[in-house]
Amino acid sequence: MTEIGPSLMCSDLGALREDIKILHEGNVDFFHFDIMDGHFVPNYTMGTDMIKSVRHDTNLPFDAHLMIEYPERYIDTFVECGCDMISIHEEATPHLHRTLQHMNSTGVRTGLALNPSTSLNSLEYVGDIVDYVVIMTVNPGFAGQTFIPSTLNKIENLKHFINSNNLQIKIQVDGNISYDIIPEVIRKGADMLVCGTSCLFKQPNGLKQSTADLRHFTDRLKVEQ
Ligand code: DX5
Ligand code: ZN
Repeated sequence: MTEIGPSLMCSDLGALREDIKILHEGNVDFFHFDIMDGHFVPNYTMGTDMIKSVRHDTNLPFDAHLMIEYPERYIDTFVECGCDMISIHEEATPHLHRTLQHMNSTGVRTGLALNPSTSLNSLEYVGDIVDYVVIMTVNPGFAGQTFIPSTLNKIENLKHFINSNNLQIKIQVDGNISYDIIPEVIRKGADMLVCGTSCLFKQPNGLKQSTADLRHFTDRLKVEQ
């Protein structure tokens, strides 16, 4: 089944606990935390204390998307605050292999995030130590942006690379994942959808209904394809 991961930077942060409860009961698959440092991306969002504060509100996996420089300095901090999955940006560290190796050694699910303009080449050398790849379908840093069409080919090329090398890598897509684009990205090979303001939060029928609608839509879609 296609995995749904709400992007919690799009939730009502003043009522984060309530939103997590609604989403958990709506059968989402993981929670996506966008971590920004104001340097790698020109924005700030949440940190480890916020993650810690809601860790015991659900047993679903926590996925930290690190849009920060020198991510290698903070891996243990995010593991300790309760993250089950961590993705780092290839563009953010000169020591990609060493950092991914360290992430593996902590037992966390290891993710590699790629900006829209970044090629898939490094996967030739780190594909065996990566559990999932985050294809940024917008330029990272803000919710509510527009999907970049060229990333569709990238998803397809990545799926081909994974299959032709017999790798066990899941494809996560992140940025403006809307109802229009969901069938396309799934058809190209996406396994995990990061869902923000484009299909889940700030919807007219409220979070409970939008979660049920999205769950139904993706489950039905996967059966039909
Ligand atoms: C952007 C973040 C996304 C974003 C998704 O840098 O990584 O997770 O919050 O939100 P929408 O769906 O509004 O693009
Ligand atoms: Zn993200």
